[in-house]
Amino acid sequence: MKHFTIAIDGPGGAGKSTVADHLAKQLGVPHLDTGAMYRAFGFQALEEGLTARDAQQMAELAGRVRIGVRFEGGKQRTLLNDRDVTDLIRTPEISMAASDCGTVGEVRRLMVAMQQKIASEHSMILDGRDIGTRVLPNATLKVFLTASPQVRAKRRYDEMIAKGQAADYDAVLADVIVRDRQDSTREIDPLAPAEDAVTLDTSDMTQTQVEEAVLGLLYRKLADAEAREKPPVKKRERFTFFYRVAMVFSAFMFRCVLPVRYHGLENADMDAPYILIGNHQHMLDPFLIGWKCKRYQIRYLGKRELIRNPLMRAIHKNLLMIPVERHGADIGAVRACLKTLKEGHVLSIFPEGTRYKTTMMEELESGVGMIALLGNVPLLPAYVTAKLKLFKPVDCYYGEPFTVSDIAKEGANRENCDEVLARITAQYRAMALAYGSEKAVAK
Ligand code: C5P
Repeated sequence: MKHFTIAIDGPGGAGKSTVADHLAKQLGVPHLDTGAMYRAFGFQALEEGLTARDAQQMAELAGRVRIGVRFEGGKQRTLLNDRDVTDLIRTPEISMAASDCGTVGEVRRLMVAMQQKIASEHSMILDGRDIGTRVLPNATLKVFLTASPQVRAKRRYDEMIAKGQAADYDAVLADVIVRDRQDSTREIDPLAPAEDAVTLDTSDMTQTQVEEAVLGLLYRKLADAEAREKPPVKKRERFTFFYRVAMVFSAFMFRCVLPVRYHGLENADMDAPYILIGNHQHMLDPFLIGWKCKRYQIRYLGKRELIRNPLMRAIHKNLLMIPVERHGADIGAVRACLKTLKEGHVLSIFPEGTRYKTTMMEELESGVGMIALLGNVPLLPAYVTAKLKLFKPVDCYYGEPFTVSDIAKEGANRENCDEVLARITAQYRAMALAYGSEKAVAK
C-alpha cells in the first residue's frame, strides 16, 4: 500500500484511541495519539505551576519544552524532556490541563508542526481534535467519531474502573461536558468535523463495527485514488473467428473499395455498455459503423430469415447475432438485447428497422425505444451522409453519446417510448443539418 494517513477526530471518549490502535495494528502502521502530546505539555505546565491563562508563560514554555514520541512494538511512548511520561498523563487533572493549554495559539502551533513532521515520514493513523482540519488537511481518510456525552462518560468511567482507579460517574460526565465545551468553542482550531470527514456516531456501535466501517472507508478511498491516478486500461474484447474476419473485410472495404471518411472517432471509443445506432441505406452499414468501435465485438439484431440456411446460421451464431422476428413484437429479442447490455456489451440497432433510400430517421421501430428505455445505457449515434458507392468516399460521423435516462425515470410506456424515438430523430436531424446532406433534412 502506498503512503496514506487517516485522521480520526472527535470529542474525548468517542473511542478514537482504541479504534486507531486496533486499525494501526491491522494495517501495520503506527498510531499517533496527539492528545498524549497535549497531555505531556499540560503535565509540565502543572508541574511548574503555570496557568494557561497566562499566554506569555505558555509561549515561553512552548519555546523550551521538549515533547517527543517513540513507537515500541507499535505502542506509543510519550516523552517529556526525555522522560517517559506515558503512564503519568491519564488523570482527570491532566485532561483538563491539556485542554486548557490547547487553547493557546503558541502551544497549538508547536504541536501541529511536530505532528505534521511525524506524519510525513510514514503512513500512519492520527487521532485528535484538529487532525482533519489543521494537521493533515490532505489526509487520505478523515473520520469524525462521536457519541453522546453519557455514552462517552460511561466508557471513560469503565476504563478507569478496569484500571483500578477510583472513579465517580457523575464527575466523569461533568468533566466530559466541560472539556467538550472548551474544545469546541476555543478560538483556534476548535473541535469540528472537517468538511470532507465522514462522521460516525458510535453510541450504538460495537468496537468491531466501528473498525470495520473505518477500514471499509479507507479501502474505498484508496481504490478511488488509484482509479484517479491510473485511467483504466481500455481492454479490447476477445473477438470470435468470423468477427475477426469481418473486421479484416471491413478494413479492406472501407479503405479501398467503398471508401469512408470517419469523424468523431473519440466518441466511438467510449466504454461499454452502450447502444450504437445508425441510419441505414446500404446492407454493409452494420460493418461500416461497427468496425470502428474496435474495442468491442458488437452484438446486433438480425432478421430470422438470415439464419434459415445452416451455413449462414453457423456464421451469424459465431458473430453473436440476436435473431429477431420482424413481424410483430418479439419479446424474446428485446429480452436478449437487455441481457447483452446488462452483461456490459455493445448493441447495435438500426432504429429504422429496414433500409431507407434517404438518410432520414423519421419512422422508427418502437422496439428500439423500449430497449433504450429499459436498458438505460447511452446511445452512440453514427450518421452516414450517403449511400456507399464504389470508390466514391462517403462520410461517417460519430455524434456525442446521449442518454434517455431522464425519460426512463418516468417509466417504460408507449408515450415515453415515442419520446425516445423523437429524441433520436432530433439527434439525426441535427447531425444531417450540421454535416450537410440536404436530402436528409426534413422540408
Ligand atoms: O484525546 P485526549 O483526551 O487525550 O486529549 C486531551 C486534550 O488535548 C483534549 O481535551 C484537547 O483539548 C487537547 N487536544 C487538542 N488537539 C488534539 C488532541 C488533543 O486540542 N489534536
